[in-house]
Amino acid sequence: MQLENQVAVITGGANGIGRAIAQRYGNEGAKIVIGDLLAEHGEATVAELKTAGIEVTFGQLEASSKESNEALADLAVSTYGGYDVLVTAAGISHSEYVSGDREGYLKYMGAVGEMALAPAHAFAQLEVEAWSKVIDVNLTGTFYAMQAATTRMLDAGTHGRIVTIASIAAKNPDAGPVAYTVSKAGVWMLTKKAARQLAPANIRVNSIGPGYINTNMTNVFDEIDEVRERLMAQVPMGRKGNPEEIASAALFLVSSESSYMTGEILHPDGGYFTE
Ligand SMILES: NC(=O)c1ccc[n+]([C@@H]2O[C@H](COP(=O)([O-])OP(=O)(O)OC[C@H]3O[C@@H](n4cnc5c(N)ncnc54)[C@H](O)[C@@H]3O)[C@@H](O)[C@H]2O)c1
Repeated sequence: MQLENQVAVITGGANGIGRAIAQRYGNEGAKIVIGDLLAEHGEATVAELKTAGIEVTFGQLEASSKESNEALADLAVSTYGGYDVLVTAAGISHSEYVSGDREGYLKYMGAVGEMALAPAHAFAQLEVEAWSKVIDVNLTGTFYAMQAATTRMLDAGTHGRIVTIASIAAKNPDAGPVAYTVSKAGVWMLTKKAARQLAPANIRVNSIGPGYINTNMTNVFDEIDEVRERLMAQVPMGRKGNPEEIASAALFLVSSESSYMTGEILHPDGGYFTE
């Protein structure tokens, strides 16, 4: 039990990577607050975790809203009496992304195929609304969640830990669309900056930059032969990772096993970054 009696807030915890982290932290004794846009998915995840004996509650979250992030932090403190750990897993790959909407994603992938034939035109024609949506959710949303967490951690004077979920796209522009890669590069710089500013307050801030992981965000890639083969050719281990393999890294980063680490990024990516 590495997280006994600790309170952990997981944004984007209704699905995929966030859900696996919520489960792993819960199994280690943490009290879990899941924040997510999709209430139905969130409630289903909470029911599943409760069956496993985990203390967990759900709060609906719009990651790109400061007020919503503040309300989620208040929920953690009012429900469990503290706030020790934050993981920011809420994220979107593109502006129309809705987790679990397979049809919508397949339609988007068709458009991506067309854009790849004329990348300069695709860049020139990118709508500012589409750009802003991704930056607002992935980057500004991470910032709001970190601010809300930091305020509570400073109030309590506890040893806080924050884990941001970036991506291999934080460092490789080929690993996603323009707004996504820029948002994730921003998350990585935000992590380093916050690590420096929060270290004197005994708050550690680290990041995980996953490779291709089996979640709603990548499942449709498997249905398109050309995409699946191109992506897997970039991964020496030749397979996607599982959300549980990201949860292992996330547990390490909030446990005492990483007590001298801050401002670091881990890449569970099957060897993607070995070139
Ligand atoms: N799956 C991958 O291969 C991969 C790789 C690198 C990084 N990531 C990152 O991991 C994180 C989790 O993604 P995932 O792969 O588990 O996908 P996912 O779709 O399974 O989970 C994302 C969750 O974020 C929630 N979310 C989306 N927009 C939100 C908003 N505005 N407010 C609150 N919640 C919102 C979704 O409802 C969903 O539950 C994302 O930040 C993603 O960019 C994923």
